[in-house]
Amino acid sequence: MTDSQNVLVCVAWPYANGPRHIGHVAGFGVPSDVFARYQRMRGKNVLMISGTDEHGTPLLVQADKEGVTVKELADRYNRQIVEDLAGLGLSYDLFTRTTTRNHYAVVQELFRGLYDNGYMVKETTQGAISPSTGRTLPDRYIEGTCPICGATDARGDQCDTCGNQLDPADLINPVSKINGETPKFVETEHFLLDLPAMHDALEEWLRAREDWRPNVLKFSLNLLEDMRPRAMTRDIDWGIPVPVEGWEDNPSKKLYVWFDAVVGYLSASIEWAHRSGDPEAWKAWWQDSATEGYYFMGKDNITFHSQIWPAELLGYAGRGAKGGTAGELGELNLPTEVVSSEFLTMSGSKFSSSKGVVIYVKDFLAEFGPDPLRYFIAVAGPENNDTDFTWDEFVRRVNNELANGWGNLVNRTVSMAHKNFGQVPVPGPLTEADQRILALAEETFESAGADLQRAHFKSAITKIMHVVGEANAYIAEMEPWKLAKDDAQRERLATVLWTALQVVSDCNAMLTPFLPHTAQRVHATLGRTGVWSAEPRVEDVVDDAEHTADYNLVGVGLPEEGQTYPIITGDYTAEQAVWERVEVTPGTELSKPQPLIAKLDPELGETGPEWAPVQ
Ligand code: MF3
Ligand code: ZN
Repeated sequence: MTDSQNVLVCVAWPYANGPRHIGHVAGFGVPSDVFARYQRMRGKNVLMISGTDEHGTPLLVQADKEGVTVKELADRYNRQIVEDLAGLGLSYDLFTRTTTRNHYAVVQELFRGLYDNGYMVKETTQGAISPSTGRTLPDRYIEGTCPICGATDARGDQCDTCGNQLDPADLINPVSKINGETPKFVETEHFLLDLPAMHDALEEWLRAREDWRPNVLKFSLNLLEDMRPRAMTRDIDWGIPVPVEGWEDNPSKKLYVWFDAVVGYLSASIEWAHRSGDPEAWKAWWQDSATEGYYFMGKDNITFHSQIWPAELLGYAGRGAKGGTAGELGELNLPTEVVSSEFLTMSGSKFSSSKGVVIYVKDFLAEFGPDPLRYFIAVAGPENNDTDFTWDEFVRRVNNELANGWGNLVNRTVSMAHKNFGQVPVPGPLTEADQRILALAEETFESAGADLQRAHFKSAITKIMHVVGEANAYIAEMEPWKLAKDDAQRERLATVLWTALQVVSDCNAMLTPFLPHTAQRVHATLGRTGVWSAEPRVEDVVDDAEHTADYNLVGVGLPEEGQTYPIITGDYTAEQAVWERVEVTPGTELSKPQPLIAKLDPELGETGPEWAPVQ
């Protein structure tokens, strides 16, 4: 599919306004990591980046609630989220944050490039303020009736029912979500991104996207119908200063959070390059047009990735209707694919901390470890439809599929080989049944791999688990425990166990993107050494000033120099995992295997755990 060796994996940036719940990681986290790990296994140079999204009203409102400063809030949840995501084994090359000096400078460079090319237009617009406090009311805290579809719970920034972007002044009967009062509209100046000037370029790009998930493509094409200029600045005191004379020092005008967050993909790539010791390294993922870039997110983020971000890139490059020239960072690649998931719900409602419908990643990891959740999301997650999470289904899948299916296959195969031979045995001639199961396993690398390349995770894992099922059936049919009782059958026993070990090895390779922690253990169980699948690590780094100097990005009003913050990173090039058969070698020492997957108490399916009881 791609000729380039480089693949960019962009993962949506979670707001640092609370710990992550499993709905979040089902949308952006696990799918992106399965994809990245698969790409690495097929030899690609993956750059996987993200970070916490720390501007915007979601943080302001939560900080108010918790009675802390926004900065304190951001620091607290940035660290918590880093721990959640690293604990899940998400293999970011860099997971950073949007309050770094580097990010500010890169965002301002993008804004200035757009401004210089004429795509940032100053206009007087209607801004909402709260009559009782006199403070600006953020768009998403105004609710009302959608002027387009009539839904009564549209927000000032967007209607979730029809997906259209809105301005608060468009809403019918607008009310403040904070205190129910009717907002007052006053005149205020903003910079608007000239989306209509990008219409044709966006359309041309979108029309060439053929293999996106149909929902995502349809939604994105729809957005082309009604494109209006959109404000990229806000009346707010928390955010990135607007790099225009007369605006830079204005404490109550900042860039719109979505303008800055999407630039994070680029700024994080630049930060990664800087930290890796080769400041130019990011260019291979952004300026080489053969490089593919995949973006992972929940469906409420589509607009920003299939319209706003590409429009920012096109305008910065001077590729809109008004022309222009590319800025300091050059002409940058547009997304290859926007991969979006639907929502994981619980008892029918969207996971939401505010509604109390919530299962935190942290609690989940503490009790079950990362791989059962990764498995559940891959096999039963909201890939194409909103999907309900139930404890009952979680327990069933872990027990039947992971423990009885996969765990049992590994366990009995290695146990019997260890007990009878102490090592991987030397096979004799293969029967048709042996050849059949071996061929199935080998073919599945291709068929499941093709699914993974297209981000069809459910289909891929289903094919792989089918091989696991067939391998268990093969063992049941061959009855090696009977062969073991008959000395005359020693060679046949060796052949069956060698065959089964090879299939276990194959399945383990294919399960690696889904179950990286388990895969490492199976690797050792098969008598192999070293790192098969690598895990991310958390590291504290210092926000120095140097990143910006690399590109003459001056920046205004940057965060203070020298702050320490945690990142997720890792050395994934050292891992051995490959997406192909690795032959099992007769003579390799085997030891008695430890149980691989813990079975869950079936009662848990009815009650749920204490920290998230079934209601
Ligand atoms: N913080 C946003 C959310 O949680 C996602 C931002 S994705 C980004 O919905 F790319 F814009 F960063
Ligand atoms: Zn609507």
